[in-house]
Amino acid sequence: MDMSRWIQPKPESEFSEHKVKHYQQDGESTVYVTNQEFPYPDGALIVSRTDLDGIITHANDVFVDISGWTRDEIIGAPHCLLRHPDMPKAPFADMWATLQRGERWYGYVKNLRKDGGHYWVYATVIPNLRKGKVIGYSSIRRKPSRERINEMSALYAEMLKNEQEGK
Ligand SMILES: Cc1cc2nc3c(=O)[nH]c(=O)nc-3n(C[C@H](O)[C@H](O)[C@H](O)COP(=O)(O)O)c2cc1C
Repeated sequence: MDMSRWIQPKPESEFSEHKVKHYQQDGESTVYVTNQEFPYPDGALIVSRTDLDGIITHANDVFVDISGWTRDEIIGAPHCLLRHPDMPKAPFADMWATLQRGERWYGYVKNLRKDGGHYWVYATVIPNLRKGKVIGYSSIRRKPSRERINEMSALYAEMLKNEQEGK
């Protein structure tokens, strides 16, 4: 397979290298994380579904557009494809624990784009049931307010620092 298309060009500006796990590559592809924020489109809902392991089984058009990946690259990939290195571990641990209790999780997430930029979402994640059994999960995201993005950026930076210092 030609790997070159997975490697993003190094931006001229300040960047940090971030390895993103991607299923199609039997390994990892490299995304150079930039500080560029992409505005969440007004009034749009970003929707995805996963199986029990967090592998993406459905993504709506808005999800595909804002992520920068193609639909083919997204379907079958683990949802951590979007994981931004500025996100602490704790919100995702809380998400999975909440889902495993059969409950819905709400939270703010900074997501990584294929081009190294990012977009903030306010996410609701729910277990999908069939005949009383959890068969997967769905997430619907809305546009977060600028005030909450600012608050959550500061909070997540603090949480990440504490996690990295082992506190
Ligand atoms: C339905 C669903 C939607 C998710 N959406 C996101 C998302 O938008 N961004 C993200 O980083 N993780 C999302 N996750 C969590 C990822 O599966 C993963 O736990 C997270 O990215 C942290 O990566 P890690 O588990 O490799 O540390 C979602 C999980 C589920 C079940």
